[in-house]
Amino acid sequence: MNSLEEIAQLVSSCTQCDLHRGRTHAVPGEGASDAEVMFIGEGPGVQEDRQGRPFVGPAGRFLEDLLASIGLTRRQVYIANMVKCRPPQNRDPLPAEIGACSAYLNRQIELIDPALIVTLGRFSLARFFPGESISRARGRVREKDGRRIYPIMHPAAALYRQEMRSSIEEDFRRIPEILAQSRQQPLVPEAAQEEDQAPPPEQLSLF
Ligand code: URA
Ligand code: SF4
Repeated sequence: MNSLEEIAQLVSSCTQCDLHRGRTHAVPGEGASDAEVMFIGEGPGVQEDRQGRPFVGPAGRFLEDLLASIGLTRRQVYIANMVKCRPPQNRDPLPAEIGACSAYLNRQIELIDPALIVTLGRFSLARFFPGESISRARGRVREKDGRRIYPIMHPAAALYRQEMRSSIEEDFRRIPEILAQSRQQPLVPEAAQEEDQAPPPEQLSLF
């Protein structure tokens, strides 16, 4: 079980944490399997849960506008979340839920192997830089585990607050230049180096 489609199948029937109890649809993530940029949000909201697709509510429309502002569409990038099932009443995902779900996201990152990971909000920031505040970390590209990570605010947080809106717009505008730089200086992810040593197929199953 290791293609993006297979992960989506596993996710849709997953019962590894209690979030499966309240879901209408799991939201595995979607986009180009060879995307240069991968966006990681928090978890599905009500619209996402209804449709089984990430970022299709108000925050999603804002994300699409932000993508359009740098000449990209959602089909050209990959969009995923820390947890694949909606937390009840949109509460924050619990550490145990994030932990239970992390194998799916880890495998998606490995498969897509993006040149740049843009984290949206504090939960995906914590996936790479635990304990850091978004206000300090945002807008700065850093390397972590052989990958380029660009933390920015969550579009839902910025949507109705002009000050934050300007800051997410500004951070977004830098993405093309960051990508141009990464093309000039590609990183070799540690995961890819390990993969070169051909793990046995059994090792690819997630659980
Ligand atoms: N917010 C998220 O973090 N993810 C979604 O998919 C939608 C809203
Ligand atoms: Fe499984 Fe993740 Fe859904 Fe929990 S949130 S049930 S770990 S897919």
